Amino acid sequence: MAPAHAQRRLETPAGQTVEQGQLRRYHRRHDASRRSPFDERLRPFYHGVASGDPLPDRVILWTRVTPEEEAQVEVAWRIATDPELVEVVAGGTSMTDAGRDYTVKIDASGLLPGTTYYYGFTALGRHSITGRTRTAPLGGVARLRFAVVACANYQQGFFNGYARLAERADLDAVLHLGDYIYEYEEGGFGYSDEVGRGHEPEHEILDLDDYRIRHSFYKLDPDLRRAHQQHPFIAVWDDHETANNSWPDGAQNHQPNEGRWEDRKAGALKAYFEWMPVRPADPLDDTRIFRSIRYGDLAELFMLDTRLAGRQQQLDDSPLDSSALFDPARTLLGASQYEWLTAQLAASTARWKIIGNQVLMGQLTGFTNLDAWDGYPAERDRLLAFLEAQEMDNTVVVTGDIHTTWVGDLARDPFDPTGYDETTGAGALAVEFVTPSISSANFDELFGGPSDFLEGLLLGVHPHFKQIELDSHGYFILDLGAEAAQADWFYVNIYDETDERETFAGGWLTRSGMNHVEAAEAPAPTKSNAPAFAPEDPPISTAMEIAPGQLARGELLVVGVYPNPAVHSASLHFALRRPEHVRVSLYDAIGREVARLLDAPQPAGVYTFTFDVSSLAAGVYFTHVQAGKQIVVRNLIVR
Ligand SMILES: [Fe+2]
Repeated sequence: MAPAHAQRRLETPAGQTVEQGQLRRYHRRHDASRRSPFDERLRPFYHGVASGDPLPDRVILWTRVTPEEEAQVEVAWRIATDPELVEVVAGGTSMTDAGRDYTVKIDASGLLPGTTYYYGFTALGRHSITGRTRTAPLGGVARLRFAVVACANYQQGFFNGYARLAERADLDAVLHLGDYIYEYEEGGFGYSDEVGRGHEPEHEILDLDDYRIRHSFYKLDPDLRRAHQQHPFIAVWDDHETANNSWPDGAQNHQPNEGRWEDRKAGALKAYFEWMPVRPADPLDDTRIFRSIRYGDLAELFMLDTRLAGRQQQLDDSPLDSSALFDPARTLLGASQYEWLTAQLAASTARWKIIGNQVLMGQLTGFTNLDAWDGYPAERDRLLAFLEAQEMDNTVVVTGDIHTTWVGDLARDPFDPTGYDETTGAGALAVEFVTPSISSANFDELFGGPSDFLEGLLLGVHPHFKQIELDSHGYFILDLGAEAAQADWFYVNIYDETDERETFAGGWLTRSGMNHVEAAEAPAPTKSNAPAFAPEDPPISTAMEIAPGQLARGELLVVGVYPNPAVHSASLHFALRRPEHVRVSLYDAIGREVARLLDAPQPAGVYTFTFDVSSLAAGVYFTHVQAGKQIVVRNLIVR
């Protein structure tokens, strides 16, 4: 809800009146000099670069250009074998505009398998930072290393886990299991007073432009930007990329007064495909994301969508209808995804079959998590029975969503000692490794910790779980070789952005052909002679360098005006690097100032400034944003 003082009506020189906008700034307790809201050296590629979905001959390259004015922008790209981008192997140009929120996505092809490449973009006379990526290998592969991450709630903590990934040179890719963004309002779910950083826009995100601004806000985070810069991501969404506990026809966190779910979902997914380095799994179906990616003879990744592909609605537990719960037709994956997964698994000749999955697959007793596989027991049993009937070895399920560490064996009935031996692991059909959150709340933040007692209690009644840790944040490294698949957990501090430490918290492995977990003695060694990092700073640009007299230019970043055209209201998404007097005015096509929307000193920060346009005549306007000596003009069409 807008504060009352934001609704003051302003008289304008042209005699029209408009509502004064609602101005929001994210407040941070921490020293703003360490992290500016944006890095002017990156202009116009403030959101950095990213890559993803590597195949043996191609990889998705991504960036976002922020032009000085609303216009189509031509963006050139190139990919090379060296960090200096001299040995260029492919390149081209692409156009972008407001219709895709100035994002750029290239499927760069003609590449060699198992090769590290460096790439960059050029637009408006300037170069982006250089990204580093790696294609999937073909044929015989001795070893692979992936980072596995999920659940990055900006409001809950700093992204130190992403920063540590950016410092690892030997990863083949980062598997992101979802909750890349969170949809809540500022101060809502997961907001931490101790951390003191909210997000933009301030309200719960509901439409395409809201989701775009939230994605933009996340990608201005320097730790996330650095992780994307150094590694390809293989990402799937979980629920918060749309709304909490979503399923194809709704979500727990979607109410009738928030508009039609179909519209919200379509906006969220359009923004996701614009802003994420993901190759659409089906060009004809922009809601499909489940897909497989092969890494030679060593691994095949099966990235699932347990949210929007075919999930039946979560049951209500008050009271729980157990005939519905155990209905053999009840499905989490949906028929077509289940058929696809089992057919792909049966056909795969890869040694390790890695299932990238959102929700916990292992069975819990004592309570039923109706949002996880426990809420869909018949389909889980059908999948495990399929592994059993196929005598399929080396299936590793990697899971996100629950913000905590779990390691376990997957058996059809782990509580039946005649079918599963908790000491030897006999009877297990696969293993499950669960990544903690990058920053989203877990037990100690939600309920007060530490939770050693509860962890002991849970281990005592779950013979198949070997490790449960409910308080820490970070990620695990999945290290694959011919002999074993090992997961090594690393924990970080999310409350202090200057704390660069990480702690090795333990490793678990499954030996080839064994299908159950055992404790590892030490973390798997890092790879020697890993390829060079991409340089942190952008290459020197040949044109349009900031002249000494132009230094004022770098204080203001206008990311965009949304929506454009606008009907009822428009939002100006901008950032200030230092405190400035900010003036926002609307001018009409003949140069008259029709509305002075804001005229006040503002602290440094990222803003979403929303103003009413419903009283304006339809036509073309110009939004002048002045901060100190710098003026940025964006056209705005009012309908
Ligand atoms: Fe989450």
